[in-house]
Amino acid sequence: MATPASVRKQMTPPSIRARKGGDPIVCLTSYTASLTRLIDPHVDLILVGDSLAMTIYGMTSTVGVTVDMMIAHGRAVARTASQACVVVDLPFGSYEESPAQAFRTASRVMADAGCAAVKLEGGAEMAETIRFLSTRGVPVMAHIGLTPQSVNALGGYAVRGRDPHEAQSILADAAAVAEAGAFSVVIEKTAEPLARAITGSVPIPTIGIGASGACDGQILVIDDVIGLFTAFRPKFVKRYAEVAPTVADAVRDYAADVRARRFPGSEHVYVAGSA
Ligand code: KIV
Repeated sequence: MATPASVRKQMTPPSIRARKGGDPIVCLTSYTASLTRLIDPHVDLILVGDSLAMTIYGMTSTVGVTVDMMIAHGRAVARTASQACVVVDLPFGSYEESPAQAFRTASRVMADAGCAAVKLEGGAEMAETIRFLSTRGVPVMAHIGLTPQSVNALGGYAVRGRDPHEAQSILADAAAVAEAGAFSVVIEKTAEPLARAITGSVPIPTIGIGASGACDGQILVIDDVIGLFTAFRPKFVKRYAEVAPTVADAVRDYAADVRARRFPGSEHVYVAGSA
């Protein structure tokens, strides 16, 4: 029988790693304390993703995200989560140069945000860095397939691994990051046969996003799941709620009250001269 969420112990990178081939691993992104409070009892892992570029900051890609942005949101989430394992993305430009640069950034993110692990994008080319970090106390979640930080080099956000040559190289990426010590690997936007082949060939959990059900777990962006982000909707997203119209209606009603001088809550405020 599954353990009720309310009595679960905090998930850690080793406990996520141990779920390979077991119960599906439930992952979501979060960037704020208020959403983390709602999400934490229901998920195994919370990613403070650099998708906050779009969901929080209105940017058009993740390329402009800074380490300070990730630390600020990572701290809000890590402070609030008591059950999920909190992982923070290393942003573009903060780790690719060398293992030493990656360690400097990752150790600062872990110390200042208080998260349990970091995620970085890249396959075989990042294996040396993943080994360097994971043998020095930094648990690493890898991210292969579509790697959005490389949008300018890839020329867009298309599905990866459609041609057999590219599929082989993504399979090799998965093997390389697992062998280097990553505790799990996100596979983004690959077709089912490739996701299945990766999941069957690596000893670490695969976490899919737009990568079919042939993975050990699934991650989605919280704003997509609850219908808060409306600028665009990836095809693979299932919406479980539509909160955007609810928020817009509430704000419209509030504005109407204020404009009609029905200042909400003002009847409870101390008025000079009253007892
Ligand atoms: O930044 C992000 O949110 C991600 C995903 C895997 C959801 O990297």
